[in-house]
Amino acid sequence: MTPVSPDAALEAHLVATREARLARYFELLRIPSISTLPEHAADCHRAAEWLAAELAAAGLEHAEVSETGGHPIVYADWLHAEGAPTVVAYGHYDVQPVDPLDEWTSPPFEPVVVGDRVLARGASDDKSNVMILVQAAAGLLATRGRLPVNLRIIFEGEEEATSQHLEAWLLANRERLAGEVAIVSDVGFFAGNLPAITVGLRGIMYAQIDVSGPFQDVHSGQYGGSIENPANALAGIVAGLKGPDGRIRIPGFYDDVVPLSESDRAAYAVLPFDEEAYRAGLGVPALTGETGYSTIERRSGRPTLDVNGIWGGFQGEGSKTIIPGRAHAKVSCRLVANQDPGRIFEQLRAFVLDIAPPGVKVDVTLLGGGRPSLTSIEHPATRAAADAIRTVLGVDPLYIREGGSIPFVATFETALHLPVVLVGFMPDDGNFHAPNEWMHLGNFEAGVRTMASYWDELAAVGREGLVVGS
Ligand code: BES
Ligand code: MN
Ligand code: MN
Repeated sequence: MTPVSPDAALEAHLVATREARLARYFELLRIPSISTLPEHAADCHRAAEWLAAELAAAGLEHAEVSETGGHPIVYADWLHAEGAPTVVAYGHYDVQPVDPLDEWTSPPFEPVVVGDRVLARGASDDKSNVMILVQAAAGLLATRGRLPVNLRIIFEGEEEATSQHLEAWLLANRERLAGEVAIVSDVGFFAGNLPAITVGLRGIMYAQIDVSGPFQDVHSGQYGGSIENPANALAGIVAGLKGPDGRIRIPGFYDDVVPLSESDRAAYAVLPFDEEAYRAGLGVPALTGETGYSTIERRSGRPTLDVNGIWGGFQGEGSKTIIPGRAHAKVSCRLVANQDPGRIFEQLRAFVLDIAPPGVKVDVTLLGGGRPSLTSIEHPATRAAADAIRTVLGVDPLYIREGGSIPFVATFETALHLPVVLVGFMPDDGNFHAPNEWMHLGNFEAGVRTMASYWDELAAVGREGLVVGS
């Protein structure tokens, strides 16, 4: 796949500036903007300042680092395409922590190119899509002196920390979000690196379970047999949450789940998914999950419950004979339409307290949540994205549901009444949130051209054409 822009001047410009553009992208990758670690707050700010300057240099206006109470939001716009649609484009500049550091083959914030890949934390999620948006706008402004649409760019700094301040900012800045469509560029291609448009995202509910027993660790010979062990109790609780059929045993958990329809299942069935390659790529001996569903249905169309981390008691080398005073687990559920994270949390808490053995104290705390979303394949803005992919990449996009979550997408739709198109260029196996995250440089170049072409397509559809029903 050699992506070529249909705009010859833009294509020539992108070819001539390739090295310089990649250098800018790598400069952003060097800023360790980890949003969940307080010691990186200044780095998040620095990434925001860097992006605001980059957008201003590209020719966008009103470039601003806007404070939120948490990490700032970067805003910039270009609003001189009179009569043309207004597009709100979103990406996030924050990244996940890098541990376990010793599993990286090179330092996470020193990007290195290996073949057609660049390795770094954030290389795909989501600094690739962020820089694609910047460079598509910059390229068009440099070659045409204008954009085909009115553009408002929002780069968030707390996506990986559940977007705590985004909703309030969106609602307080409604006038900056007036437009016909939102492009959320925080997704990517399907397995096999096939271009895709994402039409569904799962929601999430994230909780912590804390089990406490004796006032501190105690001698397991002296006290063992006479009191409940918090680590044993926690293991029992966790084991009780799911059955051997992969079904979650929390009463009421499936009550609000919209079942996959025949046509949903048909859409899954046509995706070219290689189960064996998927299994082998993960290095697992077998694929497992809820009885009655295919692997891709399980990983994006059905809800889940997973332990993200579990700890307590002695972890050092050798042995130490104690009954630990406490044990803990981080548990999350991926949710599908129409599950509500608040309701799922209450059900989880009630069930955990119900199955907890006597002799320990158990607390269940909500750490965060977000709603699932489904977007329309039929919307003219989605069709325009498909046209851009066909024009630049020469293939039809796949329409996929993503197992991950972007909680505020629901806010764009319900509070701001903006239709959302989820389109981005990360490789499906780019090790997001994991050691050795990487981005395909071919996808990056494809992304810049496709995004520019998408804005041309949206201009061709026109403002009225984007208002469904008119
Ligand atoms: N970009 C991801 C969502 C995603 C994952 C899209 C995989 C496409 C493929 C996003 O940054 C993310 O990681 N979201 C979090 C949300 C959570 C922190 C509330 C997630 O899904 O875990
Ligand atoms: Mn992301
Ligand atoms: Mn992420």
